[in-house]
Amino acid sequence: MSKEAIGSIPFPRQGTTAEAIREELLNLQRSDWRHSEGRLPLHGYFASTAVSDIANEASSMFANTNALAPNAFPSCKKMEQDVVSMTLHLLNGNGRSSGSITSGGTESIILSVKAARDKTRASRALRRPNIVVPSSAHPAFDKAAQLLDVAITRVPVGVDWRCDVPAMERAIDGDTFFIAASAPSLPYGLIDPVSELSKIALKHGIWLHVDACIGGLLAPFVRQIGYPVSDFDFLVDGVRSISADLHKFGYAAKGASLILYRDQEDHQFQYSRFRSWPKGEYITPTLAGTRSGGPIASAWAVMNFLGEDGYRETTKRLMALRDRYLAGFDEIPELAVLGHPQLTVLTVVSDEVSVFSVADEMRRRNWYMSLVAEPAGIQQTVNLVHESMVETYMGDLKAAIAFARTQDPDEDFQLLHASRVVTY
Ligand SMILES: Cc1ncc(COP(=O)(O)O)c(C=O)c1O
Repeated sequence: MSKEAIGSIPFPRQGTTAEAIREELLNLQRSDWRHSEGRLPLHGYFASTAVSDIANEASSMFANTNALAPNAFPSCKKMEQDVVSMTLHLLNGNGRSSGSITSGGTESIILSVKAARDKTRASRALRRPNIVVPSSAHPAFDKAAQLLDVAITRVPVGVDWRCDVPAMERAIDGDTFFIAASAPSLPYGLIDPVSELSKIALKHGIWLHVDACIGGLLAPFVRQIGYPVSDFDFLVDGVRSISADLHKFGYAAKGASLILYRDQEDHQFQYSRFRSWPKGEYITPTLAGTRSGGPIASAWAVMNFLGEDGYRETTKRLMALRDRYLAGFDEIPELAVLGHPQLTVLTVVSDEVSVFSVADEMRRRNWYMSLVAEPAGIQQTVNLVHESMVETYMGDLKAAIAFARTQDPDEDFQLLHASRVVTY
C-alpha cells in the first residue's frame, strides 16, 4: 500500500458479516510469523498449548473489565494483588513489599524511574537529576529519561559483556538518583553483577533498579532446578525495585508486566493523584487510565494453572533445550556463544564469518532472525516452541555458515550492517 493511501482509506460504507470479518482476520494473520512453527527466535513465550489456551481464555473473559475502577471491578484488584504477591514471594520480597501490574516492561521501567525521582526529590533537591545504566540496558530507560526530563548516562559494559561496576561508580555524580542492572540484558542474555552494584548504590544512597523483564519469572525456577543463577532479586540489600514481565517467561498473554518495590512507601511515589477538575479525585497507580483486566486475568490464570511445580517442570524442559542449543553452537567451530549465559537468551558471534551473511542465508531458508549490532551477533531466545526445530535450525545454520564462507568476510560489510541492525 502506498504511503499516501493511508490517510485516505474511509470507513467501509456498510458493515459486513461476522463471518466475513473472521475470514479477513484469518487472511491478515497469514502474513504474520507463527510462534508455533518454531521459526521465530523471539517474541513468543510458549509453555504448552494448555497454558496458551487458559491464558487466552482468561484474557478474553476479562478484556472489557477496567482495573482503573476497583470498586466496579473488584475481580481485577483481587487478581492483581494475587499476582503481585506470588511474584514478590518468588523474588524474596518482604512483608512491606508491593507493586503493580503494567502494560509491559517499558511501562514498568518508566514507573521505576518516576518513583525513584520523586522519592529522592522528597528528601533532597536535584539540580541536574540523572540516571546511570549499563550500555546493554533496554532503551526503555532512555524513554523514561526523556519523558521524565532527567539525563541518562550509558556506561560501556566490561570485557565480560556485563555491567562494569567501577565504571558505573565513576559515572555517578551528586545528582544521580538511580542506577540499573539487567537480569539478563536483552543484547547479551547475561545477568549483571547486581550484588556488586548494590554495594555502590548503598554507599552513595542511590536507588538500584533491576530490570528482570526477561528473567523475573524464569531465573528463580532455573535456580530451583539446580542451575547456578547470580543473585539479582530483593535478597540483595540495595535493590529497591524490579521489573518482571508476565508476558515473557510468565507465559501470560501480551500486555502484562510487573513493577515491584522492596518497600510500599517507595511504590507510593509511582502514583499520580489529581483532584483539581470537576469530577473529583482521580488516582492512577500506573501510566494508563483505563486498564484492561484481560492481561491481569491472563497472568493470574497461568500462575494458578501451572503453580510452582508447573513452572519448575516447564523450566526443566526449557533448560534441557537450551543446553541442546549450546551443544549445537559448540559443534560449529566458526561460532562462539557470548559470555556465560545462565538463562535462555543466547547470543552467538564469529571471528571467522560475517554473521550478517549467515543471517541473510538463514532468512532465505525461512528463519526469522534476531540480530545484535555490537558485537555483530545472532540471537536465539530459547523457548519450548523450538523443541521440535532445534536440529533443523542447526542444520540450516551449518549450511548458512558454509555459504557465508564463500562471501568476502569484509569488516566494512559487518560495520555497515551493524549500523543498520533493527533490534526486532
Ligand atoms: C531486558 C528487557 N527490558 C525491558 C524490555 C521492554 O519490555 P516491553 O517490550 O514489554 O515493553 C524488554 C523487552 O524485550 C527486555 O528484554
